[in-house]
Amino acid sequence: MSVVVVRPGSPLEGSVRIGGAKNSVLKLLAATVLAEGDFTIRNVPDIADVHCMADLLRAMRMTVTGPTDGVLRVHSPADLLPEAPYELVEQMRASIVVLGPLLARFGEAKVAMPGGDDFGSRPIDFHLRALELLGAEFESRHGYIHGRCDRLLGTKLLLDFPSVGATENALMAAVLAKGSTVIDNAAREPEIADLAAFLNRMGAQVLGAGTSTIEVEGVDQLFPVEHEVIPDRIEAATFLAAVGVAGGEITLEGARPDHMDMLVTKLAEMGMRISPSNDGLWAMANKRLRSVDFSTLPYPGLATDYKPLLVAMLSVADGVGIVTENLFAGRFRYVDELKRMGADIRTEAHHAIVRGSEQLSGAPVKAPDIRAGAALVVAGLKADGETIVGDAHHIDRGYEHFVDKLTSLGADVERR
Ligand code: EPU
Repeated sequence: MSVVVVRPGSPLEGSVRIGGAKNSVLKLLAATVLAEGDFTIRNVPDIADVHCMADLLRAMRMTVTGPTDGVLRVHSPADLLPEAPYELVEQMRASIVVLGPLLARFGEAKVAMPGGDDFGSRPIDFHLRALELLGAEFESRHGYIHGRCDRLLGTKLLLDFPSVGATENALMAAVLAKGSTVIDNAAREPEIADLAAFLNRMGAQVLGAGTSTIEVEGVDQLFPVEHEVIPDRIEAATFLAAVGVAGGEITLEGARPDHMDMLVTKLAEMGMRISPSNDGLWAMANKRLRSVDFSTLPYPGLATDYKPLLVAMLSVADGVGIVTENLFAGRFRYVDELKRMGADIRTEAHHAIVRGSEQLSGAPVKAPDIRAGAALVVAGLKADGETIVGDAHHIDRGYEHFVDKLTSLGADVERR
């Protein structure tokens, strides 16, 4: 049972390197199902979710080694077992993205139904509907989805909502389908564009990824490749929030400002100075920040994953901020933990009203999920005494060397 202990300290100063994007690499690993042979993926963070996805691939008879110095190698055999067991899907919902590639390459898949989680109910109806329109048939038995198809057939898909996972499942199915597929109202996240770049390198023909309309011309076969994962914009946002709360001046090496336009605009409104640097992003906060209102939206709107970090910032900013969550109605659980630290936050359905205080009060709290765990650590930078963030294994799901990186910036943080 490890905890992260935070004490307030001096302003942050220095530079950290941003790792590869968790939400990209997990999908690239799913895409290795699509071709037989040896893949090399670079800039892979050594985090629990990557190990979980590697275990899932191993359960399907693939060989996975690493990540060592950011390099992960995958061997995808001809006789892959197209099954994702409950023990692994239950640990990580993102496992559902193996469904599309398994059906596309093997014409069959057995994947455990993911359950709900701390964000509330997380349906997969858009995933299944898109795959059905491409020609798959599904049955649900004993907690598993059994999918079957002859060769998938390209078609026009109009997603009800620009769901990240449904777009990825549809895209990874369409690349091996016969004929053309158009995915309309597709998610536009940078991680989707990274997946499409990976697939194109494998021999797929995908156009328009990163926009609302993705066009795919199906091919007969794909091939293994080498690829470097894009940097993690949520990890970068976490350090921006840390400097916003603690004050100081930092550089985020490798961060991609062009993936974070809306966040940078909001943080500038709050009073931070942020600009692109040679190889990343420079940020400074030299006074108490001002409150702002914000709503979460699919990309290029403000990501729901930034929200706990922004709420932590608002809880010590000057004024009142109104926060509206439009993606996951249940994603406010950490608010009760912030309140234990003295934050003045009222939630009403999918809104939160945050009245900033000069300082919070250190307390034992629990990380309910990855981003909320990181946000509690960030809040602890402006809380008198000790903040002890329990259930720190949630943070390890998405952050590599989180405590070390914060410490290198001068924060008073330790792992116990
Ligand atoms: N939705 C449905 N039906 C579906 C799919 C989604 O109703 O079949 C709804 C969801 O319930 C939600 C909305 O659509 O209300 C958007 O969900 P989306 O499918 O876009 O989310 P996801 O693919 O399950 C990914 C990230 C999340 C991130 C969301 C939103 C990964 C592994 N996860 O989830 O990241 O919050 O997109 O941007 O890529 C995290 O990194 O900690 C994390 C939770």
